[in-house]
Amino acid sequence: MCGIVGYVGAKNAADIVFNGLKKLEYRGYDSAGIASVNGQLEIRRAGGKLVNLQNKLADQPLLGTLAIGHTRWATHGAPVERNAHPHADEQNNVAVVQNGIVENFVALRQQLQAEGHIFRSDTDTEVITHLIDKHLAAGHTLPDACRLSFQQLHGAHAIAVISPAHPDTIIAARLGNAGGVIVGLGDHENYLASDIPAILEHTQQVVFLEDGEMAVITPDSVDYCRLDGSPVTKPTTTITWDPVSAVKGQYRHFMQKEIHEQPQSIQSTIRGRIDFESGQVQFEELHLTPEQAQRIDRIFITACGTSFFAGQVGRFLLEKLAKVKVSVDYASEFRYRDPLVDENTVILALSQSGETVDTLAAMEEGRQKGAALWSIVNVQGSMVHKISNGSILMQAGPEIGVASTKAFTTTLTDLMLLAMYLGQQRGVLSAAQSLELAAALAHLPELAGQVLAEGYNDYDSLARLYHQKEHFLFLGRGLNYPIALEGALKLKEISYIHAEGYPAGEMKHGPIALIDENMPVVSIVTQDHVYDKMISQIEQVRARNGIVISLINEGDDEVARKSDHVLTIPRAHPLLTPIISVIPLQLLAYHTAVWRGADVDQPRNLAKSVTVE
Ligand code: AGP
Repeated sequence: MCGIVGYVGAKNAADIVFNGLKKLEYRGYDSAGIASVNGQLEIRRAGGKLVNLQNKLADQPLLGTLAIGHTRWATHGAPVERNAHPHADEQNNVAVVQNGIVENFVALRQQLQAEGHIFRSDTDTEVITHLIDKHLAAGHTLPDACRLSFQQLHGAHAIAVISPAHPDTIIAARLGNAGGVIVGLGDHENYLASDIPAILEHTQQVVFLEDGEMAVITPDSVDYCRLDGSPVTKPTTTITWDPVSAVKGQYRHFMQKEIHEQPQSIQSTIRGRIDFESGQVQFEELHLTPEQAQRIDRIFITACGTSFFAGQVGRFLLEKLAKVKVSVDYASEFRYRDPLVDENTVILALSQSGETVDTLAAMEEGRQKGAALWSIVNVQGSMVHKISNGSILMQAGPEIGVASTKAFTTTLTDLMLLAMYLGQQRGVLSAAQSLELAAALAHLPELAGQVLAEGYNDYDSLARLYHQKEHFLFLGRGLNYPIALEGALKLKEISYIHAEGYPAGEMKHGPIALIDENMPVVSIVTQDHVYDKMISQIEQVRARNGIVISLINEGDDEVARKSDHVLTIPRAHPLLTPIISVIPLQLLAYHTAVWRGADVDQPRNLAKSVTVE
């Protein structure tokens, strides 16, 4: 959940590392620190936001051409300066940053303390520092001291190490699924990062470490090995993300920018996948023959949070268009219910970050039972991407705001294309249906653009009116039920208002008790097969004096008359409506959070990649 950055070359390393940390602050941000080597090891750390570290660096700059840094999301020890990374031993022989949890740290610490090591923090990470120091003192080289230390750790970790005895070397390792470890390749300089955006402005040539691998990084070389010391040859990957896409530009927040990027990301998702003359869809990366497609007995979609809600829409699309049985499971629950998975089953993991540890665990459960692993994932080289038998790389570009927006609509677009593709491969989607859907998809970026046009809906006034409310209810039916869930999640994540999403028909079975004149109820009432039923739900809210906010299609005067406020969307194909109907809910959440003065891009307690269980 934390961020790691490293640099070795000829420039001021701390400056480069600090700028990289700024790009990663969204991963975890209760404290931060940088260690550099300039003759000796020097460390600056600060609790709270990066600005505190920035102030410290302004007073006491770090010099030198080798540095590692870290933004922390606390697991062991309070988020205060002494627990911030990097951690050094008493003699400043070595500095370490870590993402993950050292599960056996208590036993290791007791042993090291008994041997005379003095601990200065409450963290699990500090044991790694003392272990490496101990092996260095025994005469091992830095790479060997690191390898031997890493072998003693239980759990999953991403680790970076520097030592003043090796002023041109960073050691990095990936052990398990505690987040990525990416080596960025430069010209007489090299980089290290847990996440691509941290180094994207410097290089697009990267190497992803796999579980159990270590890198020895100097300005002119990178050597890779396994923890047993055996060398590994690693491929270099070119990152396709545009470096400019990872900066805020004219927008006040990344979330706002990413909401407005949706027409583009939807367009990029569709482009090249679909032949608009025949309606045929291509997913070569799934390596699927029609016979294999027909043999698929069931698809288990597994994901967390926003990606899970995308999965709920995906179930509907896959069952309808590909005629395949689909279940959707919270990834964190999947392996605890002994799911009936076999070799005719596909596990379809959905993940923006590709590093969500629960999603990886669900995939592992499927793999052990013989299922094929597919994924729709936004981050190239991420663990979900790598362990899949077939992985669809989203075209959303980097998503920096913690609240997922464009990755959600991109996932929905990919799921639609996948449902069409499987329907075609299984011979159950007619040419006429394919053409109808292809035409509707072609129109989709334009519809998303309309909703985002200046002045299309007045979110700001609505947010001003209701931003002090304590509770919101979101209602939807059919394909818009997951959108109600997503609308509620967006609001609670960034504005801290308690919000519930409910299938509208369930309201009368409980939540109706909550409705009074203080309860805003956002109902998604688009003109589809459940339209009349949604109108009944609005009447039930009105009868109890609830505040009726309806999301309607343009020109729907009937529902507008029954509502206190409306948000409008243009009419889209019914199967594509969720991709459009979620956008006003993202913007309502965004404007509400802004009115409440909340930290939109870095909401409290949350992190972009959830790499702990
Ligand atoms: C979305 O706004 C949330 N931050 C969160 O629910 C997220 O969708 C979830 O943690 C899953 O992440 P992933 O898509 O990267 O796997």
